[in-house]
Amino acid sequence: MIEINYRREKKPLPVRGAVVEIGFGNGDFLIRHAMENPDRPHIGFEISGISIAKVVRKARRMGLKNLRVAKIDAYWGFYLLLPDESVERAYMNFPDPWPKKRHASRRLTNLENLYIFHSRIKTGGSLILKTDERFFVDYTLENAEEMGGWEWKVEENALSEIPTKYERKWIEEGKTIYRLTLEKVGPPSKKIEIRHIKEVEEVPHMRTEKPRFHPEELSGKVFRLPNGTVAKFFNMWRGNGEYLLETLLVENGYEHYFMTRFRKKDNDWVIGVSPFSEVLKTEGIRDLILWLSGRDL
Ligand SMILES: C[S@@+](CC[C@H](N)C(=O)[O-])C[C@H]1O[C@@H](n2cnc3c(N)ncnc32)[C@H](O)[C@@H]1O
Repeated sequence: MIEINYRREKKPLPVRGAVVEIGFGNGDFLIRHAMENPDRPHIGFEISGISIAKVVRKARRMGLKNLRVAKIDAYWGFYLLLPDESVERAYMNFPDPWPKKRHASRRLTNLENLYIFHSRIKTGGSLILKTDERFFVDYTLENAEEMGGWEWKVEENALSEIPTKYERKWIEEGKTIYRLTLEKVGPPSKKIEIRHIKEVEEVPHMRTEKPRFHPEELSGKVFRLPNGTVAKFFNMWRGNGEYLLETLLVENGYEHYFMTRFRKKDNDWVIGVSPFSEVLKTEGIRDLILWLSGRDL
């Protein structure tokens, strides 16, 4: 399977010396890199489902055996799927720059992301960023300097063996292209607070006489639970003594999207995650089910 089903896959993946691309877009770079380095495992993280589908199709057609991709935010991809010190090189080609100051936390090289990338990159390995935005290089360098454990060099208009779609576009427009190579040279000198989520063996189906809410009250509502997670309930479908509620649970910045199911059984309700929902089993989801069924957290 080229596409990583990160909800079912054993985590972290058993990889060593991997090449990772963060936000691979149309996949030109990742696919060619994987083709030219058949002995290295290649992994791509993307949030765009269309990009994932395209790359899976191309890689399958080409019979690539050393490439896997996952539809996941790069932070959580590194956090959940990659062992410490398992990445030889991580490429970040032309990330969205988010130029406004108030959007700085969305930049892919924010301190927290850089910290998790650093932990998964092996000592002597590197993170290679290409961008047409000088401020993005400076922002990344400030963060790298603050956390420590990196050495770096910046090059201008360094020729790429594999130019990406965005790179071709910016070159055509006559822009300067910057390449920042951050080499991991040791442990960080500063501890950075990062977000965590913890997987659990099972998320229970709770049988309860009086749930905290009747499912019909929930649609369209938002709750902050005592453990800090935020649950939003959208559409609801009803039939055969059961209710399915479209649910978004934000657990330490990780967004779970699934159906919560309320089933009537005798005088009780059975509350759980619909078996048709592909979702990570985490403490946050388990606690949501406990909380909905009336248990105090
Ligand atoms: C400007 S495009 C560059 C695409 C490609 N690297 C190129 O150079 O042609 C940025 C890409 O990063 C992806 N992306 C944005 N945020 C991401 C995240 N948190 N994790 C993984 N991919 C992300 C976007 O979906 C988009 O495909």
